[in-house]
Amino acid sequence: MNPALIPVTLDELTVLSQRASTVIERLRERVFAPGTQKQLELVFNVRTAAEMVGRSEKAIRDYEADGRLPAPKKDEVTGRRNGYSLADVNRMRKLFGTMPHRAPEDPPLVLAVQNFKGGVGKSTMVVHLAQYFALKGYRVCVIDCDSQASSTAVFGLNPDVDVHEDEDTLYPFLQHGGPKTLHYALRATYWPGIAIIPANLGLYDAEYEFAARMARDPAFILDRLREGVMSIADQFDIILLDPPPALGMLSLSVLRAANALLIPAPPNNIDFASTAHFLKMMEATLSELARHGGAREYSFVKILTSKMDDQKSAHQAIKRMMDAVFPQDMLNAVLKDSAEIDNAAANLMTVYELTGAATRTETHKRCRAYLDAVGREVELLARKTWPSHHPNLRKEGLL
Ligand SMILES: Nc1ncnc2c1ncn2[C@@H]1O[C@H](COP(=O)(O)OP(=O)(O)OP(=O)(O)O)[C@@H](O)[C@H]1O
Ligand SMILES: [Mg+2]
Repeated sequence: MNPALIPVTLDELTVLSQRASTVIERLRERVFAPGTQKQLELVFNVRTAAEMVGRSEKAIRDYEADGRLPAPKKDEVTGRRNGYSLADVNRMRKLFGTMPHRAPEDPPLVLAVQNFKGGVGKSTMVVHLAQYFALKGYRVCVIDCDSQASSTAVFGLNPDVDVHEDEDTLYPFLQHGGPKTLHYALRATYWPGIAIIPANLGLYDAEYEFAARMARDPAFILDRLREGVMSIADQFDIILLDPPPALGMLSLSVLRAANALLIPAPPNNIDFASTAHFLKMMEATLSELARHGGAREYSFVKILTSKMDDQKSAHQAIKRMMDAVFPQDMLNAVLKDSAEIDNAAANLMTVYELTGAATRTETHKRCRAYLDAVGREVELLARKTWPSHHPNLRKEGLL
């Protein structure tokens, strides 16, 4: 008998699945302990706050002195200033008129971070971009379209406990005769400026139901998510869509709902081959969709080199090839492979949320620089789609 070929029974798979669930439960028990709620602990000193607001430290101090801004809070024990929270910074931005919001007549950016390949860094990019934009003062909405609910969990919601599929996710909206707008599903997060429409496993059913109805009612299926996004769009500058890793109905509706695409692609052979495949399928699918009514145009489609490891010559070679093949379409910034992203993700956190000593390591600083570079480039692309930002972009020499 060959001991390597003992068949795995269904019972054994059940045991495996139960053990995996236990591990997840333990992780979640730690992160979502009862009575605790995720909070944003970031505080900024006056110099950083002034930079974020776009005014001098003196301007802030003057406003505090004459009461237009509240006096800065002090630590009860040490008497030292506590620093400013993001909500404080946003209050200053409002007062100084430096909120970067788009004008109502500018189109909101609906950015799908899309690739049918799994594990390329879609959710990582969505949550970090959301927080990058929120730190700048933009109004952001994250729509979690993936039943794996990765973004939902990072924003402090336990998909199995805090999210009810019949009420809280996209699911009811995707039903025939469902709610007229997506307002019911919008929730504020502990991040000022970020709202989320969460997901949970129930969203998986929508995939089957959609597929079953596709032949009868393609227009409803394909455009429903777009209609939903438009129903809430006036409140936001940027709506980020986090799709599931598959060419299913939900992914297609995400392609239809978005007006810009960011495609993360790790520079290794297998992932790159599937990105090439994704682009080919996307092209075919979009022309097919166009025949079903109205072509979809994107303000931009950019490929982001993700999880790049400089130490690997193969990564460098494929990155060079990507740059040569898509010279116009690559984002200049690269999201390098970083232990910091994994460390943060292990605690269902982002790199932007880390505070204190954790932020003083070289690994952290480097990782933050990669993320900021990606954020800055996407921010510039977003602002270019907003005519009201053009005069300032010209002044800044960016247009
Ligand atoms: N730049 C990076 N450096 C290190 N680890 C990364 C990086 N980007 C993503 N990861 C890790 O890779 C894993 C997959 O990332 P992520 O969940 O963002 O991918 P995804 O494309 O959303 O996956 P899925 O297709 O399953 O939704 C996660 O564990 C994440 O922490
Ligand atoms: Mg994901």
